[in-house]
Amino acid sequence: MPDSSAPLAILELELINAIGSATTVAEVQAVRVAALGKTGTISGLLKGMGAMSPDARREQGPMINGLRDRVSAALASKKAELDAAELDARLLSERIDLTLPARPRRKGGVHPTMQVMDEMIALFAEMGFAVAEGPDIEDDFHNFTALNFPPKHPAREMHDTFFLKPDPETGERKVLRTHTSPVQVRTMLSQTPPIRIIAPGRTFRKDSDATHTPMFHQIEGLVIGKDIHMGHLKTTLETFVARFFELDGVDARFRPHHFPFTEPSAEMDIRCDRSGGKLVLNEGDDWLEILGCGMVHPNVLRSCGIDPDEWQGFAFGMGVDRMAMLKYGVPDLRPMFEADIRWLAHYGFSAFAAPNPASGLS
Ligand code: DAH
Repeated sequence: MPDSSAPLAILELELINAIGSATTVAEVQAVRVAALGKTGTISGLLKGMGAMSPDARREQGPMINGLRDRVSAALASKKAELDAAELDARLLSERIDLTLPARPRRKGGVHPTMQVMDEMIALFAEMGFAVAEGPDIEDDFHNFTALNFPPKHPAREMHDTFFLKPDPETGERKVLRTHTSPVQVRTMLSQTPPIRIIAPGRTFRKDSDATHTPMFHQIEGLVIGKDIHMGHLKTTLETFVARFFELDGVDARFRPHHFPFTEPSAEMDIRCDRSGGKLVLNEGDDWLEILGCGMVHPNVLRSCGIDPDEWQGFAFGMGVDRMAMLKYGVPDLRPMFEADIRWLAHYGFSAFAAPNPASGLS
């Protein structure tokens, strides 16, 4: 009888060598499949035992089973070794040196317009105003008609409106809102008085020069209540402006003006001095225009289903970017929207310096 253990010993040697030289878990897996998989060499030997004579089986069985056990053990121990090495390599590559110094300079920052919006929201919130919002794409009714702009009136042209393509079915032309005042209308239509809201947001006009950009930001205010009068308007706005510029009070004047949605209407100016090449508030003989305001026109109240004999109110609107420029000495409006990281590094604010009335505003 030939020595039937010889081919087994050779097979074992080959397998153990292949396992020994494997350098990845995938290579170990390939040896496992070649030996112990469905059509593997050892699997073939195990299957062949069924057809052996009892004597041959008694002799070869323990050898084949022994071979299987030793190869399985070698596979398992090689896999464990490679797993451990892989983990070590990963831990090494993911190591963080906590003793490294922090990055020296932040790259991004909060844009001054957003910082100022947050400041304004914080101040008005303290005075009991809630924040309201509306869409950037408006319809003619909310942007103009309900705000008492007469049809075909040049006041509509005054706003240099961006019109969208007419709707093919209705012919309706939506607009990019030219001011935040439509949020007044939306609020009055959806809430019942008393109302006290501010509406910060983006606005759009076909206009571009050193002091105008096609997109800019406004904040709108609206107060509707019983027996509201100009005195409330004046005190609210003077308090706001003084706190915003961190002054004890403001020397303000309310200059008559015209807006279709308010009657009477005014612009609020603050005394200022520009003679030294920089802006000083509350001093000098100059006036700085800050915002538009007035008593809500009875037609606007009626358009929104509010009885003007029962309810009155005041409204105001101002440019947020402009207020940011005034407060933080930004000289030119256009770079505010050029997304230049160097500009932001200079004029931006830390995200950790979120304004709130307790910790101060700037
Ligand atoms: N909507 C005006 C504009 O964009 C600003 C404004 C003026 C808003 C007076 C008001 C207001 O609410 O009362 O020019």
